[in-house]
Amino acid sequence: MRHFTHLDDLGPKGQAALLKLAADFKRNEPGALLKGKVLGMLFFNPSLRTRTSFEVAMLKLGGQAVALEEGSGVWKVETEDGAVMNADKAEHVREAAPVLSRYVDALGVRAFSRGMGQADDDIDGVINAFRRHAKVPMVSLESAREHPCQGLADMLTVQESFGQTQGVKVVLSWAPHVKPLAKAVPNSVLLHAAAAGCDITVAHPPGFELGEAVRAQAQRYAGESGARIRYTHDQREALNGAHVVYAKAWGPEPRASEDSIVSSPALRGWMPTLKHFENCTSEAIFLHCLPVRRNVEISDEVLDSEFSRVIDEAENRLWVQMAALAWLFGKA
Ligand code: CP
Repeated sequence: MRHFTHLDDLGPKGQAALLKLAADFKRNEPGALLKGKVLGMLFFNPSLRTRTSFEVAMLKLGGQAVALEEGSGVWKVETEDGAVMNADKAEHVREAAPVLSRYVDALGVRAFSRGMGQADDDIDGVINAFRRHAKVPMVSLESAREHPCQGLADMLTVQESFGQTQGVKVVLSWAPHVKPLAKAVPNSVLLHAAAAGCDITVAHPPGFELGEAVRAQAQRYAGESGARIRYTHDQREALNGAHVVYAKAWGPEPRASEDSIVSSPALRGWMPTLKHFENCTSEAIFLHCLPVRRNVEISDEVLDSEFSRVIDEAENRLWVQMAALAWLFGKA
């Protein structure tokens, strides 16, 4: 049984194959490959793009999707083994996952970081508990550690813009926010770009390092794909010659108090403006997973500029997810 909850389910070669399939589907829609199939989606957190694009992907493939919101008309779910369920959680994953598996043909789960630190994020307890107990293929709708469908859409957008991903200079640049956001998206930018053979620079202020396990995984992919990876605290130098500027907020480690992230003028200067593009290549593009807090994380002038591909990137969620679903069901 196939699952796609982490990039390790595909690896660099698998990602390349799915990107090719997604590009094919975008050129020529494949029709009802998944006629009669139902995707169940359980959301522990809100979504605009992920929910809509998966629902539309299933419709376009001849199937259907059912979306459930944990705690909102659906019981709150406990995922810890041995928990004494005497608080607000009335359902355990040990029943929820196999029961849902009797109704649907594949199951997606969105469960963000529990805010309990790097080690807990790396364990990715909620999505992995569903994966252990589900009897059908699982797909991640974003978890504590990774957002693999976003990572695929990002790489499809890079491939479309530059005709390839190999050697494309991608700068993942930390950005400010009002909250210490989790690292799933920046982790996936690094992992998917490494798997795709990009020339990656991760720029962030001191104290905002990505986790060791993810960095090691990216290095492992680089050994296979030929990617180059470096880390710097110098945003200006990182942006020199960039083809892709991917700006994203993430929290420090250990997690800081919320207002310490935007209260410092030095950190506010990391918010991309047009000035940040002065030394990029002339064909540079700007990416962000969305949603984005305008003029806190990214300036209006960048989001509304000719550099921005954020809408194309969001559209590409649809095509890569159609490819991922076809693969999950053994139709690719
Ligand atoms: N990028 C992304 O996953 O968007 P949503 O949170 O709206 O699904």
